Amino acid sequence: MTKQDDHFKKVIAHAKEFGFVFPSSEIYDGLSATYDYGQNGVELKNNIKDYWWMSMVQMHDNIVGLDAAIFMHPTTWKASGHIDAFNDPLIDNRDSKKRYRADVLVEDFIGKIQDKIEKEVIKGKKRFGEEFSEKEFRSTNPNIIRRKGQIEEIESRLKLVLETNDLAAFKDLIDELGIVCPISGSKNWTEVRQFNLMFGTELGSVAGEASKIYLRPETAQGIFVNYLNVQKTGRMKLPFGIAQIGKAFRNEIVARQFIFRMREFEQMEMQFFIKPGTQKDWYEYWKKTRMKWHESLGFGADQYRFHDHIKLAHYADAACDIEFKFPFGFKELEGIHSRTDFDLGNHEKFSGKKIQYFDAEQNQNYVPYVLETSIGLDRMFLAVLSKSFCEELLDDGTQRVVLKIPPALAPVKVAVFPLLKKDGLPEKAKQVLNILKLDVNCQYEEKDAIGKRYRRQDAIGTPYCVTVDHESLNDNSVTIRERDSMKQERIAIDKLQKYIGDRVSTKSLVQNMDRLLENAVLN
Ligand code: GAP
Repeated sequence: MTKQDDHFKKVIAHAKEFGFVFPSSEIYDGLSATYDYGQNGVELKNNIKDYWWMSMVQMHDNIVGLDAAIFMHPTTWKASGHIDAFNDPLIDNRDSKKRYRADVLVEDFIGKIQDKIEKEVIKGKKRFGEEFSEKEFRSTNPNIIRRKGQIEEIESRLKLVLETNDLAAFKDLIDELGIVCPISGSKNWTEVRQFNLMFGTELGSVAGEASKIYLRPETAQGIFVNYLNVQKTGRMKLPFGIAQIGKAFRNEIVARQFIFRMREFEQMEMQFFIKPGTQKDWYEYWKKTRMKWHESLGFGADQYRFHDHIKLAHYADAACDIEFKFPFGFKELEGIHSRTDFDLGNHEKFSGKKIQYFDAEQNQNYVPYVLETSIGLDRMFLAVLSKSFCEELLDDGTQRVVLKIPPALAPVKVAVFPLLKKDGLPEKAKQVLNILKLDVNCQYEEKDAIGKRYRRQDAIGTPYCVTVDHESLNDNSVTIRERDSMKQERIAIDKLQKYIGDRVSTKSLVQNMDRLLENAVLN
């Protein structure tokens, strides 16, 4: 097992043990790739949503929210292209009986070549020491140049088979690359077939095609069909955006890697309506803005990278992913798509209703273009959890497990402890708790020694612990202990609210993001 596999396994076990994520319907042995969020998980999830909503809706005068239904008129999915084109190419291995996405097999193969390049760079760093120039090494080392060439060739073949939908050529590519099944190790593959990812169900009691509907595979369409409603009732002028958080469903061929790829998941999407012809500028704007949203969390800029799509989705004229360094490598966390007028134009065609914008400056009607930002909430949750999980060896030789979650996202912001369960300390501690819980999510603990209570709070990522002791009864002060440094200081109870508020608010993340954006403009 690699170090990364081991880390990932520990994160999954920790998520269950400390009430973040449980396998769904576990008493019946669970349901494949379906998970429930526990008492701490739901808080973390809500805090991520708050951060997104605040930075997208509250901080933009021209972006408003929406909460559309999951069920939609079935023609929506004809117009959006999902009935005809929302397919993944699948392939089975005859020996292991396992099913794979053919494009993912090829992408994983490319990932292995990329890993070899990174290993070469590490070797180079060791060999050349201080004089090492990574940029020069990457552009001159013959092994790296050869491997980059291999990647480019495979990517261009993958792009071609995806664009031409040539399934026989897809199978040839897998055979030629000698890709083996990770389970059986064999190359005994079936042909490649297309598989539609939408979940169908029936509305009401009448069976048959007329009542067939779909669980939405993206939240975006709920925004498009409400474009006119919001534009008119909100008197919105271009450019403007509509943001939405909600569930989406996809019958994924392979759901795996814990909550990374599920069949029921949540998306945070924003559709930004713009004047045709301005899409390139807005694409760059949203790429930069969304990247800074991620970087503001403080995990390090090197944990993210852009990846241009090899094959554009049926609706896009430009698209990229923000990838995050998950424990299993760089993978898609968020998509930024220039969707042109594909969706609004098609809804206009299929509904027969005019879906246009009157541009008073140009005295002209047109179908707006759309720039989309789309992030998976569950993936964001996994990114935060996996990057925050740390095992630390302490000076006294003991070990602690701590979730170094950015304070604004932590499920519990403060834990309040009485030093002892007597002498009026619990009563005083509850007074402190009652003040703090008006502002932030708090916990009260009086069981076990203080050290043990600290460990329990570290394990769920609580940034501050407040201890009430005998001195508190005389001078109205308490000890506050910070999670990461474990430093303690004395503070007056009447200063606590502000002290904690300043450090755990979503506002601090958004302000940090603004600073990063300002610096990016200056440099
Ligand atoms: N409206 C555009 C759209 O849905 P997408 O790239 O298919 O684009 C957007 O999905 C985001 O949704 C992804 O970047 C990912 O974070 C999340 N996502 C997609 N499929 C998912 C799945 N099966 N499980 C969890 N998250 C998923």
